[in-house]
Amino acid sequence: MSFTADRLLLFGATGDLAQRMLLPSLCALHADELIHPDLKIIGTARSDLDDNGYRQFAREALEKHLPANRRGGMAGFLNRLSYQPLDATTLEGYTELANKVGPTGQGLAIFLSTAPSLFEPTIKGLQHAGLDGETVRMCLEKPLGTDLGSSCEINDAVASAYPEERIFRIDHYLGKETVQNLLALRFANLMFEPLWNAAHIDHVQITVGETVGLEGRVAFYDDAGALRDMVQNHMLQLLALVAMEPPGHFDATAVRDEKVKVLRSLRKVAAGQTVTGQYRAGAIKGEAVPGYDDELGKDSDTETFVAIKAHVDNWRWKGVPFYLRTGKRLPQRVTEIVVQFRCVPHSIFAGKGATMQPNTLVIGIQPEENITLSLMAKVPGLDREGIRLRQVPLNIAMPDVFSGAVRRIAYERLLLDLIEGDQTLFVRRDEVEAQWEWIDAIRGLWDAEELKPKTYTAGSWGPSAAIALAERDGVTWHE
Ligand code: BG6
Repeated sequence: MSFTADRLLLFGATGDLAQRMLLPSLCALHADELIHPDLKIIGTARSDLDDNGYRQFAREALEKHLPANRRGGMAGFLNRLSYQPLDATTLEGYTELANKVGPTGQGLAIFLSTAPSLFEPTIKGLQHAGLDGETVRMCLEKPLGTDLGSSCEINDAVASAYPEERIFRIDHYLGKETVQNLLALRFANLMFEPLWNAAHIDHVQITVGETVGLEGRVAFYDDAGALRDMVQNHMLQLLALVAMEPPGHFDATAVRDEKVKVLRSLRKVAAGQTVTGQYRAGAIKGEAVPGYDDELGKDSDTETFVAIKAHVDNWRWKGVPFYLRTGKRLPQRVTEIVVQFRCVPHSIFAGKGATMQPNTLVIGIQPEENITLSLMAKVPGLDREGIRLRQVPLNIAMPDVFSGAVRRIAYERLLLDLIEGDQTLFVRRDEVEAQWEWIDAIRGLWDAEELKPKTYTAGSWGPSAAIALAERDGVTWHE
């Protein structure tokens, strides 16, 4: 059902995500007049604050996390905020919370940015207070479980109060401009689609490299590891967008139907097709950084790096490997998708310097938003030994092409869609479950093999075995 919410209830309102992303995104939307003047934002968390205390808290978060030029009308934004302290685990406080929220006839969006262990009691409390009517939407932040079983438990608890058409599961990668641009690139241009298949593509690489380490999220990360933290959600979403069939429309059902088909076609990963790693002390951009176990304060077998050779078992992608890798403390923060085409079937250019290289399409998602297509070109000159060839880039730097455009936080897009009720960029239950099924099988394999992560030096591209995983197939990771 489509309605624009005029109330946003934010659980975890004093948490890290609220400070770094949610409040800044909402303030930026307010500054750009993208949210209705009547939208009220009610924060709730354990902290004992009143409305003014929360406004002060929000002001400090905004000053820290939102660039000054995007804070226009901050006072007006702060006036939208109110706050109600709550112990989410007991029913008592929810009626008072509902009173604070006020009438929800126009539409209420609830954003749960709390530990998943609180989801179930929170849903019960919301039902108890009548905050589960037809004009209420529920938005869930990751992690949605640690495996298929726990994810189903969360989904069942939420489904007991809200139908799927009103559940919005966040994967913030879907809010990133260049991720959405991937759809535009594939489906708003004629030239790629005819080549976008096993007959013309040799392999695909997806890299999500991070320079950061644990960032203080000790307990969470050590339980999760890179596979659950990054591959289950962000990387599989990127893979699904690259591999999906063209949807009939750009709407929530059509897009998600196609993504889920890809996720269900993922081949169970076989032994030897994954590499895990854990960083040791090293240096990033010349600065010394400690090893994972030093940051953690104990020994651990949690992987901070994972590389996987994946396959999508369908007609389009028969025999095309998808190499995925992600890790903490890598040399660069970079998210990119590399589509490596096959070589031309026959070269007419014989002779020295005429070595053919395949075309490559590199879609840079962050930190640079750019699209580069490498082409073969003739090197200028009058060579006697025949034409000399070199690979040259055809480069589109998005910030230059759209120079006036504001660089938005991914959550701006997602919060706006939540308020307005567009689920296209949110993850459907069947997608999450297909993702977990594939991930659980990988974990099962690791457990059966008693696989321990290999060490890598912080500031390197992971264990050498990850390089070998691709090199065995004659593939070099793009750098
Ligand atoms: C989060 C992970 O989902 O994504 C973090 O929990 C990771 O570990 C983050 O750092 C990466 O997001 P981004 O937008 O910085 O690439």
